[in-house]
Amino acid sequence: MHTRRAALAVLAGAASLALTLSACGEDTGGSSSEGGGTIGIALPTRASERWITEGKSVVSDLKAKGYQSKLVYGEDKPQTQVSQIAGLIEQGVDALIIAAIDNKSLNDVLQQAADADIPVISYDRLILGTENVDYYVSFDNEQVGRLQARYIIDKLGLEDGKGPFDIELFAGSPDDNNTKYFFDGAMALLQPFLDSKQLVVRSGQTELSQVTTLRWDGPTAQKRMDGILAESYGSRTVDAVLSPYDGISLGVLAALKSDGYGSGGKPLPVVTGQDAELASVKSIIAGEQSQTIYKDVRLLAEVAADMADDILNDKTPRINSRRAYNNGVKSVPAYLLQPTSVDRTNYDLVLVAGGYYTAAELE
Ligand code: GAL
Repeated sequence: MHTRRAALAVLAGAASLALTLSACGEDTGGSSSEGGGTIGIALPTRASERWITEGKSVVSDLKAKGYQSKLVYGEDKPQTQVSQIAGLIEQGVDALIIAAIDNKSLNDVLQQAADADIPVISYDRLILGTENVDYYVSFDNEQVGRLQARYIIDKLGLEDGKGPFDIELFAGSPDDNNTKYFFDGAMALLQPFLDSKQLVVRSGQTELSQVTTLRWDGPTAQKRMDGILAESYGSRTVDAVLSPYDGISLGVLAALKSDGYGSGGKPLPVVTGQDAELASVKSIIAGEQSQTIYKDVRLLAEVAADMADDILNDKTPRINSRRAYNNGVKSVPAYLLQPTSVDRTNYDLVLVAGGYYTAAELE
C-alpha cells in the first residue's frame, strides 16, 4: 500500500471514530499549507452557471492556502472527463477534486490516481464503484428533494385536504448519483398524496426510470413535457411539476408557455427547481418558476479546499455526516451542507442580503 493511501485509510478510520466529536456547523476554517502544491479540479460542464462559480471559488480558496490549481471542464462528456483526469495525473497534481459526469466511468482513471498516490475528493456527486475515493463533500441531497416536495404540498394545500390536482414528475441524469437522492427525498413526501389520489400523474410516468433527464438537459426536459401535454392533458391543465434542477425547470416552463400556460386564464403550475441559477431567480421574480433550492456552493468549494489542504498536511479533514455514504465498494466519509428553499418571498433576504447575487444582477 502506498504511504499516502495507507495514511488516508488510518485517517478515514480515525475520522469516523471522531464523528461524534466533530462539529456539525459550517465553520470551514482550515490551516494553510506550508509547502503548497497543485490541485487538479475536474468539473462537469460550463453550460451551468453553478459549476463556473464553483470553479472560481475552489481555485481562489486554494490559492489563499498557497496552492496552484488546474481546473478542467468535461463539457458533459464522460470520456472527455476521463482523459482530462488522466492528463491531470500525468501533470503530477497532488490531489484531485472531482464532480463526476458519469459516476461509474472513472474507475480505471482513479486506479491510475491511486497508483500515483493522489488522493481524491468526490465533489457534490458521489463517485461509485471504486475504493479510490477518499472523501465526499456535498449537500444533504435528500433534503433538497424534501424541500421541493414540501413546497408543492404547501402551495396546493394538500395537507388541508385540497385536491385532486394533476402533477408531473421530472428527475435528473440517470448517471448522477444525486438524482436518486433528490427523487427519493421528494417522493417520500409526495407518495401519501398519490396514494390518497389528491395528486394524480396523468402521464402515468411515476418510476424514476421513466422520468430521468439525461445530463440534466433543459431542451430534453422541454421535449418530454411537450409530449406529456399533448398526450395526457388535452383540455385539462397540470397543477404542479416536480423539477429537480433549474435548467430542467426552464425547459418545462418553455413547453408550458408554448402550450398557452401563463396567459389567458391558464395559470402556470407550481414548478420547483434547484441551484438558484440567475435565469431561474429572474423567472421566480417574474412569477413564472415558483421555487428553487439554494445551495451556497461557495461553502462547498471552501470545504473541498479545506479537505484537500488537510489531507496534504496529514491532518484529518472534518466530516459531519453520521451516515455512511456507501459507494458500492466502501463507505466514504462525508461532509454535507444544508440547502435552503427560495421563492419570491425570501429571495431578497437569502440571495441578495446573503451576497450571492447583487440586486443589480437580478434586474
Ligand atoms: C447535480 C447537482 C445539482 C445540479 C445538477 C445539474 O449533481 O447536485 O445541484 O447542479 O447536478 O448540474
